[in-house]
Amino acid sequence: MTDSIDLTDPSVEHTDPSVEFTEVGVDDTTIADVVAVLESGRYVKGPVLERFEQQFAEKAGVDHAVGVSSGTAAILLALQAAGVGPGDDVFVPGHTFFATASPVLSLGANPVFVDVNPETYTMAPSELASAVEDAENPAAVVPVHIYGGMADMQGIRAVADEHELFVLSDSCQAHFASRDGETAGAAGDAGAFSFYPSKNMTVAGDGGMVTTDDAALAEDMRRFRNHGRGDDGVHRSLGLNYRLDETSAAVGLGQLAKVERWNENRNVAAGRYTERLAEVPEVTTPTEPDGGFHVYHLYVIQVPDRDALRDHLADEGIDTGIHYDTPLHEHPAIAERVGDVDLPRSEALADHIVSLPMHPNISEAEVEYVARTIVEYYR
Ligand SMILES: Cc1ncc(COP(=O)(O)O)c(C=O)c1O
Repeated sequence: MTDSIDLTDPSVEHTDPSVEFTEVGVDDTTIADVVAVLESGRYVKGPVLERFEQQFAEKAGVDHAVGVSSGTAAILLALQAAGVGPGDDVFVPGHTFFATASPVLSLGANPVFVDVNPETYTMAPSELASAVEDAENPAAVVPVHIYGGMADMQGIRAVADEHELFVLSDSCQAHFASRDGETAGAAGDAGAFSFYPSKNMTVAGDGGMVTTDDAALAEDMRRFRNHGRGDDGVHRSLGLNYRLDETSAAVGLGQLAKVERWNENRNVAAGRYTERLAEVPEVTTPTEPDGGFHVYHLYVIQVPDRDALRDHLADEGIDTGIHYDTPLHEHPAIAERVGDVDLPRSEALADHIVSLPMHPNISEAEVEYVARTIVEYYR
C-alpha cells in the first residue's frame, strides 16, 4: 500500500466508530483486490468488472448486469436503450429522489408524476392507471423501491402490460430487496442500481448497475456506456462515457459478498423500531408487504409535528434526516418544465416524514435509545 491512499481509513465509510471497521467497510481481501488492480495497470474495461457484473446478475436473478458510472447513468442508459426519446411520456412517482426524473428530461421525454400509496411510499398502481389514460404518448414507467421496500410490481406491471410500457425498476435504494419471489432488479424489463457511498452497498465512490434478462438491451447499454462503440471499434450509435472502473468493481465484489448480511441486520433493527413504536399512536411506522423482504436503506416514520420531534431528538444527541422534504415536481428545475402538478399524498408525506438512524451495524441499545426517546416525547 502507498502512503497516499489509505483505504482502511474508517472515516471513508464508517457510521459507528465503536464497530470493527471490517464489519461495514472495506476488508483486507478487498484492499488486496484493489491493490492487485492498481498493480495490474488495467483500470477500465477489464476482468474485474466482468466478474462483478456476473456475480451481481446471479444474485439479482437476471441474465445480464451492466456496470455503469452511477445510478443516474443506469436510469439514463436503460431508458435510452428502451428507445425513450423526445415526446414520450415516462411515469415516475411523486415521492423519490431527483435522479428518477432527471434522466427522463435529459432524453427529451416528459416525466409524468404519479401519486404514491402513503403506507408504502411507493407508486400506487391505481394512480398509474389513471395517469396512463390521460397521457398522449405513454412509453415507460419507473417505479421506485424507495427506502428499500418494493413497490407493488404486480399491480404496476398489469397496467404496463396493458399499455405496452417499458418498466424500469429504480432499485437504487433496494439492493436485493424482494417481493413475490423476485428481487428489485428482476422485477421489470430492467433494474437500475446506485453504489453511492450511503447506499446498502457501495463501490467506495460513485457507481451503478443495470440488470436485465434482455440480451439486446444489455448490449445496447454496453455500447452506450462506451461512446456507442461496438466490439469492432465502429461507432454505430451515439453514446458517452459512463464506464465503471476496475478498482470500483473490486470494491463492489467485496461488498456484494456481504450485502445480504447487512440487509438482514437492517431488517432486524427495523423490526425492533416498529415493535417499540407501535405503542405510540402519533407515529406511523413503515409497512412491509406480505411475502416481501424490505432492506431498509432508510427507516422512515410519519409524525404530525415533524420539526418539533427532530429538534427534540437532536437535543438528545440523535441525528435524523428528511428524504425528501420537497416533492420532486416542486423543485424549480422540474416545475419550470412540467408546470402545475397536483399530488396530494406525495405533498403531505413531504411534511411528515422523518428518517431515523439506520445502518447495518446499529445496535439493539441504539435502536432502544432512539425509540425510547420518541415514546417519552409523545407520552
Ligand atoms: C431512488 C434513487 N434513484 C436514483 C438515484 C441516483 O443514483 P446516483 O446517486 O448513484 O446517481 C438515487 C441515489 O441517490 C436514488 O436514491
